[in-house]
Amino acid sequence: MNQFHFHPGAGRRARLVRGRQARPSGPTGWSPLRRIALLAALCTAAIPLLAATSPTPTQVVVYSGRAERLIKPALDSFEGKTGIRVELLSSGTTELLNRLQAEGDRTPADVFLTNDAGNLERARELGLLRPLAMREIERAIPAPFRAPDNSWVGLSGRIWILVYNTRQVKPADIKSILDLAEPRWKGKIAIPNAGSEYLQAGVSVIKATQGDSRTRHFLEGLKSNADTNVFGKSSQIVEAVAKGQAAVGLVNHYYIYRHLEAQPDAPIAALIPDQAEGSMGAIMNAAGIGVTKHARHLEAAKLLVEFLVSQAGQKMFADLNKEYPLHPEVKANPVLPERQSFRVALVPLVRLSELREPTMAMIEQAGLR
Ligand SMILES: [Fe+2]
Repeated sequence: MNQFHFHPGAGRRARLVRGRQARPSGPTGWSPLRRIALLAALCTAAIPLLAATSPTPTQVVVYSGRAERLIKPALDSFEGKTGIRVELLSSGTTELLNRLQAEGDRTPADVFLTNDAGNLERARELGLLRPLAMREIERAIPAPFRAPDNSWVGLSGRIWILVYNTRQVKPADIKSILDLAEPRWKGKIAIPNAGSEYLQAGVSVIKATQGDSRTRHFLEGLKSNADTNVFGKSSQIVEAVAKGQAAVGLVNHYYIYRHLEAQPDAPIAALIPDQAEGSMGAIMNAAGIGVTKHARHLEAAKLLVEFLVSQAGQKMFADLNKEYPLHPEVKANPVLPERQSFRVALVPLVRLSELREPTMAMIEQAGLR
């Protein structure tokens, strides 16, 4: 059930454009605006040839704050299906946000992809994104995972959970993420540093559901219990737990499955906390996409969003990093606990942006580094 119906000539015409254009090289390679300028010139040159047949969009420019290997295959698949060429600029999310702001209506970007809904909401607040009235989005992605006006749309879910050393911890030892602040975990936990987006988003959800004083207590306990087990990368947290240097760590779920894929015998397992009746639920954030306010290739941008929220797009996009598809009818990768098997915290992702500043202040006050 392919939702895409394109004129049979679309691929041929697109190849005509692509044939004149060198493929991008290097993992994050982008000789900044030169390539876009060149491409724009080529496209303009090609338009008279194409206009005679049909106005099929030929190109879409993506600014992405996600690792290229985790999205490229899905974008390639979109290219293959539609003949629309995807031009990808990968960089840090904050850098891209600043760039979008600085470029204003001159931006070449048609869409903005990030791994954190808080940054998408921030982009919406700054007036950088465009609302989308598209039934395809509303049918595919539940409301808590997108902006009310669809100016950004979640594409895949990541849960912030616990990795534990199976030789040191029994799963029954921990019920809640807040348990990690208890004195019995002194010297036994591994946590991300204060600059971590995952820590900021996770603590924001705790603050929204548990209130300030419990959040403060949690942060102070984390600081005291982690000692020197504070890491810049989530993979280091999983490694510390696998080596027994810490008994429990706080990470996004896919880091655990990535480690186990490489080292199936590692003595680690995933634990989804806060599942008891009446408890908070697991902390979920979403990676997502927004169409820019000044998109020059609006039709192509909308087709890309439509593809990524479609069942085929969802399966592929989420699977690349073993994230959870947000489309309720698409199953997660079979190594993951089924999405229906756990509850998530009911904090709308739009709130992550407004919560960020006060959360960062609390993280700082608690002395986390
Ligand atoms: Fe990550």
